Amino acid sequence: MKKVAILISGRGSNMLSLLQATAEPGYPAEIAVVIANRADAGGIKQAQAHGIDTLVIPHKPHGPDRAAHEAEIDAALRACGVELVCLAGYMRILTPFLVGRWAGRMLNIHPSLLPAFPGLHTHERAIAAGAKLAGCTVHWVTEGMDEGPALVQAAVPVLPGDTPDTLAARVLAQEHVIYPLALRLAALGETGSGDAASALVNPLPAAPPQP
Ligand code: GRF
Repeated sequence: MKKVAILISGRGSNMLSLLQATAEPGYPAEIAVVIANRADAGGIKQAQAHGIDTLVIPHKPHGPDRAAHEAEIDAALRACGVELVCLAGYMRILTPFLVGRWAGRMLNIHPSLLPAFPGLHTHERAIAAGAKLAGCTVHWVTEGMDEGPALVQAAVPVLPGDTPDTLAARVLAQEHVIYPLALRLAALGETGSGDAASALVNPLPAAPPQP
C-alpha cells in the first residue's frame, strides 16, 4: 500500500476523485495527506470532511524564494512517510529542487493531450487552433513544465459550438477517470514507457491496412 500526498491550490475535484478511488477495497495506495499552498483552497475542507489529514503550507511568507517553500513541503512529505506525490491543480511552478527530490515519484494531471497545449488556457487554445480532439494527460513530473512522460491519457471530441467552459467540463469528466487509473498503475510500479495504445484509455482506431 503506497502512501500518497496530493498537492492542491483550488477546488480539488481531481483530489476528490483520488480520495474516492483510494477508499475502494483493494486499491494499492492510500492518501496520507493533502497539502495546499493556499488556506482558501476549497479542496482542503473536502479532504477534512473525508477524514484526511491536511496541511496548508503557504508560499507567500517565502516571497520569491521558491526553493525555501519547497523545502518546507519536502520536509512535510517526508514526515508523513509519503512515497508518491500527486499534483492536482497545484498552481506553482516547481523548481529543480522538489522535482529532483521526487523524480519518478511525482505525477501531474494536465487538461490537454500532451505534448499539445502545455501551460495555461489549454481549452481556449485548443478551440482557437481548430483542434478536433482534446483530452487530458497524467504524466510524470520532470523539470520542463508539462513535459514529463505520459502515463495515461484520454481523448474527447471538440464539438461545434464548444466554449472553453463546455470543453473544460467534458475534459474534466475524463480527468476524474484517468487520475485514479494512473495512480493505481504508478502504485503498482508501472512507468508507462509503452506506446500510445497502452497510455490512451479510449479505443484507438484500427491501423489502415498495409499495401
Ligand atoms: C484541472 O483541470 C487539472 O487538469 C489542472 O487544474 C485543474 C484542477 O481542477 N491541472 P481541480 O482543482 O482538480 O478541480
